[in-house]
Amino acid sequence: MKFLLVYGTTEGQTEKVATFVTDHLAQQGHETQLANAIDPTATAIDLLGFDAVIIAASLHAGHYQSAVIHFVRTHLDGIGARPNAFLSVSLAAASGDSDDVHGLEQCIAAFTQQTGWTPRRVHHVAGAFRYASYDFLKRWAMKYIAYRKGGPLDTSRDHELTDWVDLAQFVSSFLGDLESARLPSITEESAAAARAMPDAAARGSDGSDRSR
Ligand SMILES: Cc1cc2nc3c(=O)[nH]c(=O)nc-3n(C[C@H](O)[C@H](O)[C@H](O)COP(=O)(O)O)c2cc1C
Repeated sequence: MKFLLVYGTTEGQTEKVATFVTDHLAQQGHETQLANAIDPTATAIDLLGFDAVIIAASLHAGHYQSAVIHFVRTHLDGIGARPNAFLSVSLAAASGDSDDVHGLEQCIAAFTQQTGWTPRRVHHVAGAFRYASYDFLKRWAMKYIAYRKGGPLDTSRDHELTDWVDLAQFVSSFLGDLESARLPSITEESAAAARAMPDAAARGSDGSDRSR
């Protein structure tokens, strides 16, 4: 199968997540194309050649990257016509706090409203504190959030909260969905072929008719 993965990233963690997913798919023998939504050529991608689409974006102050929203709106029909999934990268995803979980649901609802797209699968991916990429104010604000939430306070290095095993499991489960979605058509074809054949069940192995 051929997969398109379009992502938005601000400090780079979602790009790392997106690369991990395409590498994982490639290891399973699939073709992939990876595109940063901010790249001017991304909007021109023709979805016709793809069997499934994955969109990934990260949360910043409750919003996903506008380039991702633009891409999804532009390709709404093409995305909706294929198996699709949304990877939401955030720090709230690393929290078991019910307020954070509720907040994430609201962000997804707002994203759905902004884009018109209801993803078939949504997976929450824990992101990272990338202290090294932040300016002074951002580093201070993120350290304060970490302090309140019990997160990492050492700003001399980055702290990755992404659970790569969980992400690999999601990709495998998404692949499983695609494979089982193909099964009904195979079953229908087999059923049609069986209907076209003489009623084997009604005959014995010697060809005698046992239906009477
Ligand atoms: C300025 C700023 C605002 C953020 N706002 C949120 C937020 O509203 N909710 C959340 O769960 N995480 C928030 N995060 C955490 C990011 O989603 C997380 O760091 C993620 O890994 C960023 O991915 P990226 O590097 O691909 O942009 C914020 C991070 C920064 C730096």
